[in-house]
Amino acid sequence: MDRSSIGSQGLFIAFEGLDGCGKTTQAKLLIQYLLQRNIPHRHVREPGGTEVGDKIRQLLLSPETRLNTWGEAMLYATARAQLVQDVISPSLAKGEVVVCDRYLFSSLAYQGYGLGLDVELVRTINMKAVGGLIPHISFLLDIPVETWSQRQSSKQHLDRIERRDADYYQRVRDGYQKLAREHGLVVLNGQHSEQKLYSQILEKIEAYIKGGRYN
Ligand SMILES: Nc1ncnc2c1ncn2[C@@H]1O[C@H](COP(=O)(O)OP(=O)(O)OP(=O)(O)O)[C@@H](O)[C@H]1O
Ligand SMILES: [Mg+2]
Repeated sequence: MDRSSIGSQGLFIAFEGLDGCGKTTQAKLLIQYLLQRNIPHRHVREPGGTEVGDKIRQLLLSPETRLNTWGEAMLYATARAQLVQDVISPSLAKGEVVVCDRYLFSSLAYQGYGLGLDVELVRTINMKAVGGLIPHISFLLDIPVETWSQRQSSKQHLDRIERRDADYYQRVRDGYQKLAREHGLVVLNGQHSEQKLYSQILEKIEAYIKGGRYN
């Protein structure tokens, strides 16, 4: 990958998966790669990344917040809409690579499948909120709930969502796998080593750039 291989519409890459699956680890490795090659990029994480988004993030993740299920889904969509308008779309318009730590499929998995909301409705609301913008490539770093549990146990502080139980996370994982089949997410085994995952991710991106597709 080099500067000239990214089209004028930019390249939008998202990392998805359960808490602790390795999204931030892989996003940072990819950012390092882009930095080394002088490829213009933006690294964002959800929810947040805008003034209103950061306030919403605090509300959503604070264990003190009492919030009903649709309220939760709508707040995620609100933060996402602002991030797209203020950051992601302008960055893509400049031809940059946008690396996003979580995006729309998180809402479908966590609020749709996890909380049992109407998945199609959550999708419709989110698609409207982001003006139909979906990533060129969404990577799903798939881990079983046992691995989620092991990786969570080393965390000092669990946020409001992370306090949910294994049954919830099982629904989220199953939901993600279904979404991957329906919407063409690139599924990688999150139990592989960080380095192996990193090279698989670069391979997929290269293939996408060369052929306009990744498989
Ligand atoms: N491939 C891997 N194999 C083993 N451990 C890993 C791997 N990738 C990341 N980890 C470890 O798992 C933990 C969670 O990783 P990371 O923070 O990247 O996950 P995340 O998906 O961003 O989690 P969250 O959703 O909570 O932000 C870290 O301690 C990290 O070092
Ligand atoms: Mg993370």
